[in-house]
Amino acid sequence: MLFTARCEDFTVDGDGVVRQDGRVVFVPDLVPNDLAEIEIIADKKNYLLGKIKKIIEPSPDRTRPICRHFGVCGGCSLQHYAYAAQLKWKENFAAQSLRRLAGLDLPLAKIVPSENILAYRNKAQLPFGKNSTVGFFKMNSHDVVDVRECPIHHADFLIVVESFRRFAREKKIPIYDEKMHKGILRHLVIRKSDYLKELLVGLVVNCREFGLRPELKQLVEEINQKLQTYKIVSVVANINQKKTNKILAERVDNILGSGFITEKIGGFLYKISLNTFLQVNTPQAEKAYTQIKKWCGSGNANILDAYCGIGTIALSVVEQAAQVLSIEEAPQSVKDAKRNAENNGARNVRFIQGQAERQSIETLGAPEIIIVDPPRKGLAAEMVSKILEIRPQKVIYLSCNPTSLARDLKPLASVYKVREIIPYDFFPQTTHVETLVLLQLN
Ligand SMILES: C[S@@+](CC[C@H](N)C(=O)[O-])C[C@H]1O[C@@H](n2cnc3c(N)ncnc32)[C@H](O)[C@@H]1O
Repeated sequence: MLFTARCEDFTVDGDGVVRQDGRVVFVPDLVPNDLAEIEIIADKKNYLLGKIKKIIEPSPDRTRPICRHFGVCGGCSLQHYAYAAQLKWKENFAAQSLRRLAGLDLPLAKIVPSENILAYRNKAQLPFGKNSTVGFFKMNSHDVVDVRECPIHHADFLIVVESFRRFAREKKIPIYDEKMHKGILRHLVIRKSDYLKELLVGLVVNCREFGLRPELKQLVEEINQKLQTYKIVSVVANINQKKTNKILAERVDNILGSGFITEKIGGFLYKISLNTFLQVNTPQAEKAYTQIKKWCGSGNANILDAYCGIGTIALSVVEQAAQVLSIEEAPQSVKDAKRNAENNGARNVRFIQGQAERQSIETLGAPEIIIVDPPRKGLAAEMVSKILEIRPQKVIYLSCNPTSLARDLKPLASVYKVREIIPYDFFPQTTHVETLVLLQLN
């Protein structure tokens, strides 16, 4: 069936949304304000799936995607939408989520745009596929597309990818088959530091030991000759022998170098290892941390930093605090966070390994400020209850998911006044939006 409609919105996956006879139709590649002829290709009960037959009048915000993999790769779903329009959409998406799900009809600050809208990511995680392909999973599948370009990563990343692809082919290293749970090479992970222009390369492998050490050293020397801006300073093997979708496992074997790169964020130096969390857009994260520091004021507060990762927020606020207590679930992150605090001479910060919501009220103490920066699923209900029981003067919430943020803010807002909401664009060319919120006791 064919019909003509004007696109109203994007879904969170970046598909266009139109309406036909009161039903919602999701249309890949369509952008808001496009007028298009659309064919219905599937009825999914709650919504219809459509396909563009012809764009009759393109949206003034439609742009030409610059990557040849656009539409196949699920990574940059907004690359065909002008950056100014992407920002507006994100602002609106965050505001709508808070209004609809938390009943918070509050003005948001203007979204903080990203300085770099391309080559902004400091990390790439690429699966190996059949015939030594390395790239990304095709949308809605586990077929690997051999990546030839990726504009949201630095061009040096591509040189590393191509060299490891060739290496895997030449050395005939068996590629991991997830269905059979056989083969060796699973993922290639690359991390960069802009401070020292360093790269850390991780090979995720399904074997007990990864050999080929002399060959890898030789390969790295060759790659380093070709790289323009960065240098590989470390190569590690991440030993992942589990039948799991999780990319990284605990065990990391150093093949070359120390297993770390060093990054500077907000005046502090951080050792970054392979399997710890770090925001992928470093300059944007730094802006959010600066704002958090400002909200912590110049007082001598006791601060709780739940979900602390490698300590980036804890160290940002250390000068504002009498004491910072930081909690983190991942053991490697806690190890790195302790070392980062020590290396930066921060003595008034303590780290606990474990789940924030599982800590007793006695352990959490009586902080005047609680900072939370949870993963996409947001806070556990017990964590919200604990915050309400402790009742700090301020709660600062950094969120990468407006939906879980709205759910968590609803109970908090019955006690706290939401003072400020600042959206940040950490992920240009995608629908992701980061939001920072300040809550204060009434
Ligand atoms: C979004 S990251 C934030 C890390 C850090 N604040 C930063 O800016 O880099 C969330 C962190 O919370 C950790 N985490 C996940 N669930 C947790 C829990 N229940 N308790 C404590 N930490 C948790 C993750 O391992 C991850 O390091």
